[in-house]
Amino acid sequence: MAHHSESGLPIEPVYGPQTLTGWDPVERLGEPGTYPYTRGVYPSMYTGRPWTMRQYAGFGTAAESNARYRQLIEHGTTGLSVAFDLPTQMGHDSDAPIAHGEVGKVGVAIDSIDDMRVLFGGIPLDEVSTSMTINAPAALLLLLYQLVGEEQGVPAHRLSGTIQNDVLKEYIARGTYIFPPQPSLRLIADIFRYCRTEIPRWNTISISGYHMAEAGATPVQEIAFTLADGIEYVRTALAAGMDVDDFAPRLSFFFVARTTILEEVAKFRAARRIWARVMREEFGARDPKSLMLRFHTQTAGVQLTAQQPEVNLVRVAVQGLAAVLGGTQSLHTNSFDEAIALPTDKSARLALRTQQVLAYETDVTATVDPFAGSYAIERLTDEVEEATLALMRRVEDLGGAVSAIEQGFQKGEIERSAYRIARETDSGERVVIGVNRFTLDAEEPYEPLRVDPEIEARQAERLARLREERDGRAVTAALDALRQTAGGTENVLPPMKEALRSRATVGEVCNALREVWGDYEPTDVF
Ligand code: 3HC
Repeated sequence: MAHHSESGLPIEPVYGPQTLTGWDPVERLGEPGTYPYTRGVYPSMYTGRPWTMRQYAGFGTAAESNARYRQLIEHGTTGLSVAFDLPTQMGHDSDAPIAHGEVGKVGVAIDSIDDMRVLFGGIPLDEVSTSMTINAPAALLLLLYQLVGEEQGVPAHRLSGTIQNDVLKEYIARGTYIFPPQPSLRLIADIFRYCRTEIPRWNTISISGYHMAEAGATPVQEIAFTLADGIEYVRTALAAGMDVDDFAPRLSFFFVARTTILEEVAKFRAARRIWARVMREEFGARDPKSLMLRFHTQTAGVQLTAQQPEVNLVRVAVQGLAAVLGGTQSLHTNSFDEAIALPTDKSARLALRTQQVLAYETDVTATVDPFAGSYAIERLTDEVEEATLALMRRVEDLGGAVSAIEQGFQKGEIERSAYRIARETDSGERVVIGVNRFTLDAEEPYEPLRVDPEIEARQAERLARLREERDGRAVTAALDALRQTAGGTENVLPPMKEALRSRATVGEVCNALREVWGDYEPTDVF
């Protein structure tokens, strides 16, 4: 009797030669680094360069996070990844009433250029690539990064990194949106245009399926809804008058890696093939870089357990292996204690060491796409692709990703999957070691990392000092210029950069945009 995968696809007990009868490896796979990129986006993949070990980190003040980044670099991480606190992600200052209790909690508090300068103190921005998990205010954090680069003497064309900048998935899952969809899409198109001339090596968006997966999406839902979002962004940039090869090479993606390793490898391979075909056949992209689905992976946070937390070390190793066998470009491995609290220095180091074992002790970097030609994986890749294309057609029939979001379609589908997973776990049908099988009578005590409760007061003092010292008239003039531009059709990033340079705060800039564009009010569809 066939097992069923996370996406509900059959996994046969035995596959054989008949599985691949009539199956053409040249047409279905291509070579590594060639269309349709099923086997990977680069010809040499990890035999040329291992994936980037990019650990998501950030908490408390800029100084505390700067210390963690320098420690991660010392331990061998090869890319930075900034986690921001919720006030920053929502475009509020640390001393705004709405920020109370959240300052520095799920990430670092960044209110102004002063904080950004501290965040990257002693880190040469022409020697690292930095990912920033920021969406609605992504333009501000990108500009603050560019301004700090200028202060370090690093020209913008030498900067490399990524802003997540994927607001559509915030409406579907995660929820850190500010403005309504249309002004949000305008801002994203402005960023694409600005980076093309000002910061050409910057990856302007990380179109994310991770958070949908964390909310319960199956692998097929994860890539179908993510690629549908990608298509919406491409259409937006084309409608803004850009040529597809002007921005598509700098689109990037972000997926989860689950413990179900076989389907995950098939998922990544199918996603590359679908995206390559959509970009060439639907959008006429000609630059090979426009056809490559380059992605970051994070191991599945939702599969970590608070019970017997050390068992998570094993889950993360398997999930990391799935991402690597699937051809990820960049990887974050979760710390084993993250279901309990913020990672300690030791658990953060163990998470990185997990990647280093995969990269330097196993042989998975010795050859490209080792599963190619496997009866099981090629059948699963084809079936994931087929189911994904069918779901993408349903989104298209609803008018595309934004229209489907406004009808609550993606959210509804994901909630139904989440409910099924919860029911299977409660019934024991879905085994979770330590939770519904092989449990302990009494959990051993665990000492979590604690964030300094004084963080909020200290950040408020910094803001008061900043407002004292800066040229208030210059700030007012810059914010007026920004409002003016936001009300028109010109690119908002240049006036936004001048406001930030004059030490306007993240909250002040976002409030200026709120005055012009308003806040998004979700349509609750049940
Ligand atoms: N052959 C030839 N060239 C190669 C190569 C090979 N085998 N391997 C790498 N390269 C080159 C690349 O072409 C690239 O050159 P470029 O800089 O000129 O483009 C360079 O080496 C770096 O390689 P990659 O671009 O593949 O790797 P990066 O790590 O730099 O970028 C990415 C990866 C996916 C494209 C990028 O967008 C990225 O880093 N994304 C990270 C996103 C991220 O970290 N997100 C975290 C989100 S956390 C979150 O949201 C969860 C929370 O909410 C819980």
